[in-house]
Order: sequence, then C-alpha cells, then structure tokens
Amino acid sequence: MSHTASLVNSILTDTHRSSRPVYEQLREGLREMILGGQVPTGSRLPSSRRWAEDIGVSRMTITRVYDELTGEGFLERVQGSGTYVSNDLSAFAFGRGEEKGRALATSEAKPGASVSARATSGRTIRTSHLPPQARPLPFRPGAASFGDFPIDTWSRYVLQAWRKSPKALTMDYGPTIGYGPLREQISQHLSVTRGVRCVSEQVIVTSGSPASLALAARTLSDPGQIAWVEDPGSPEARGVLSAAGLNNQPVNVDADGFDLERAIAVAPSPALACVSPSYQFPTGVIMSMRRRMELLEESKSRGFWVLEHDLDSDFRYSGRSLRALQGIDRIDQVVYIGSFTRSMYPGIRLGYLVVPRGIVDVVTNVLEQYDWVPPMATQIAMASFMADGHLARHIRRMRVSYMSKRDRLVAALNDVLGGESTVAAPDAGMHVPVELPDRVSVDDVIAELRSRAVESLPGRNYSQSARGDNQLVLGFAAGSAREFARAITVLRQVLTSALG
Ligand SMILES: Cc1ncc(COP(=O)(O)O)c(C=O)c1O
Repeated sequence: MSHTASLVNSILTDTHRSSRPVYEQLREGLREMILGGQVPTGSRLPSSRRWAEDIGVSRMTITRVYDELTGEGFLERVQGSGTYVSNDLSAFAFGRGEEKGRALATSEAKPGASVSARATSGRTIRTSHLPPQARPLPFRPGAASFGDFPIDTWSRYVLQAWRKSPKALTMDYGPTIGYGPLREQISQHLSVTRGVRCVSEQVIVTSGSPASLALAARTLSDPGQIAWVEDPGSPEARGVLSAAGLNNQPVNVDADGFDLERAIAVAPSPALACVSPSYQFPTGVIMSMRRRMELLEESKSRGFWVLEHDLDSDFRYSGRSLRALQGIDRIDQVVYIGSFTRSMYPGIRLGYLVVPRGIVDVVTNVLEQYDWVPPMATQIAMASFMADGHLARHIRRMRVSYMSKRDRLVAALNDVLGGESTVAAPDAGMHVPVELPDRVSVDDVIAELRSRAVESLPGRNYSQSARGDNQLVLGFAAGSAREFARAITVLRQVLTSALG
C-alpha cells in the first residue's frame, strides 16, 4: 500500500469524532493532511473504489469527499489518471518547518505574527485570582447578591419589552447612543442619587464601564499620551486605558483623595485623569471639596479631561453624601462613567457615560466606528423597570441587607483580630479592606479560604506598585444569608488559626 493510501486510511482511526458523519470526518481529515503537508501537492490519492474498500465505507462516501475537496480547490481530477492534490497549492508554504503536521486552528503554538504591545500591557484580576464559579461566593469583592435580585419582576419587564414594543424598536439596531427613554431615566437617576447635572442628550448608553472608559479614551486622547490613574485603583480601568495606548501614571491616594500635587510633579501634562472622587475604589476615601476644586482648576489650565469613574457609590450606609465631581464642573471637562453592575447584576452589561454637550457628536462618531451595543430589548426593559421605581426600590432593599452583612463581617473581623489591627466599617461600597499583621501571609489566608468555598482578593491586586502587600479584601454583598453566616464561621476559623 502506498504511503498516501496508508495515511488517508488512518483518518478515521485518528480523528475519534465518531458522532459526526463519516464523509465529514474524511473530508476534514484529508483537508488537514493537505494543509499540514503530510500529503504533499501533486500526490496521487487512492481511487475511490480502493479507499472505500480499505476502510469499509461506500464508494459514494469517498466520491462525495473527492467532489467537495475538488470544488474547494484542494484536489484535481485528471481524466483517465486519477485524483491528485492540486498543484495550484504548491506555491504556498504548507507543510514547511513548524507548521508541518499542525492541526488546523486548534494548535496552542504562538502564531508567527506578533500581537500588539497594547494587548499585553494591561493586567486584570479576573483570571489570576478568582476561580470561575456558577455564581459569586461570599466575600467576592464587588459582587452583588444574586439571590436577592427580583428576577420575577425583571423578567416580566424583559418579556414585556419583546411583546409590547414595535419590532422596529427591538429588532433593529437602535440609536447609537442608546434608547432615548433609558437615557432620560439615567439622567434623572444620576441627578437624584449623585448630583450629576445633565440632560438626557448628554447620556450615552454602553455595555458597561470598560466600554465607556475605552470610548472616552479613544475620543479624548491619542496613543502614547499619559493618563493619571489612582494607585491603588481599579485594575480594569488601568487595563482599558493601557489597551487604548495610554501610558498610565500611577498616583497615590491620600486622606483628601487623588494626590494632585504628586501627579503634577511626576507627569505634568496628562491627557486624562481617571479618578473616583465620590468613593475612591478600593480605599473608600472621599475626595475633599478643596481637592476637587484644585483638580478642576488644573484640568482647565493644563487642558486634560477628567474621567470620573464612579464604580462603587451605589450603596451608602453612613457619613457624607457621595456627590459626583461632575455636578460641580463648570468648565465642561468631566466625563462621568458608571454602570448597573452593582445595582442590578454584572451580566446585564449596561453602563453609561455623561459627556459635556460640546463633545456628544464626536463621541457618537467614535462609537459608530466600533461599537453598536447593547441590545435594544434590554435597554427598553431597563427604562421601564426604572420608570416604575423598581431600581430605586431594589437599591433601598439591598442597602439595608448589605449594611447588616457589613456590620456582621466587621464585628467578626475585629473580634478575631483582637486589637492587632482595627477594621472600620466602610461608609459605602461593597467591600472592606483588612490589614493583616505581618506574621500572617495574605496569600495563605486566601488559599485556605478558597479551599473552603470562600472568595477573597489580596489588596495588592488593586495596585500597580504593589501597595497593600498584606491586605485582604473581602466583599460583603455576595451570598445568601445562610452562605454568608457559614462564610463568617469559616473566616473566623481561618484567621484564628493563621494568627496562631
Ligand atoms: C472594579 C471593577 N469591577 C468591574 C468592572 C467592570 O465594569 P462594569 O461595572 O461595567 O461591570 C470595572 C470596570 O472598570 C471595575 O473597575
């Protein structure tokens, strides 16, 4: 038997894709062998009768394989002579060097062409620390309590969006900047809850904060320019900005918030400043009014934009109100960014930006160049859900529940730490940072918690310069009452044993 014949005869035994039709397995196997160079161009293939007999399939099956691969240009029929691998392919480098024998598209080897520097410059926390779960476990930072979400009410609104809205609304693209009534609801919601001053024309609906940050970065800066970012701060925001080609300049956060003086000293001419003044993420510092005024003043004189990334102020329990910087901006250089991830759920993928009126057109242009989302039905459902007061009601309910969870977590921590380190109850947000004594390893604590189905993150995850080295960050929103109570018991045991 010729080498080619024994090779093609091995296709069925090699593929193990037995649930697929035989002719498909043969067709793909032979195509892969040609592309991989095992069956070189010009090779004569066995006759359809011979191959069919050898592997015990009907001749029709082989004829179909040869017909289809001939139609695709891989094979040539030569009258009176047989079937050959097309000579037209000989100009291509199939089967040379490393590619020889590589399976199609499934190889893990790195392609020869390089990926962009931007693609590898960001760092996110998702894959490095949190295992994929069906749903967030207790103490996962930033995760809402899925069990408390009013699923029945929400699904009624989703169904209604499909059933009652005209098809032209649900099935077509929809306006680039989002569904008008939703933009109206968002502007009212932000005005009441955050003191944002805007009209609905300034609101742009996106698929979440990363999309909003990317849109703002693309519109307001060019690759190679500098972005001031808070350190510690959101790793996701840093990742988006560096992926947009910006050079992130980390700036520390002091008791008044973002350290403006330091920022100016190290990088005096940024294109953007990405800050979270209402409730700094993850430290919880509220930017003082004086610092806010200075930041706005500097943005005017130095000509940079302020991206107000307001990701953690949906829930406030006590203390000062979390008003947005955008509400006191008189120079129109603040872009406000938020999402429904914490107040609704992450998978909703709905976020928004509020931009100064003078740049709505240019932002819309940029949006049209690369992103036409999110789905209209979700936007319609969200607009009605908000208009009927369900969002506000849900936030009120969750505030009470999260506050009680927060208090239980903080009490347990202070009890176990016994004065070695004091944990203050955060005024807002959904997580608490805990400084562990030096003799305790934060990584060991995290690993031990994780082995017992409790999630947490190290504080250094939020820092570009490895601040918060021995800090443990615990979310207090996720988990049912029972899961949460169990997690507190586990936490007590793990910390007690770590403290010795
Ligand atoms: C801490 C954090 N979590 C999650 C996200 C993802 O954004 P979204 O709020 O749209 O889910 C971001 C985005 O910047 C973030 O900073």
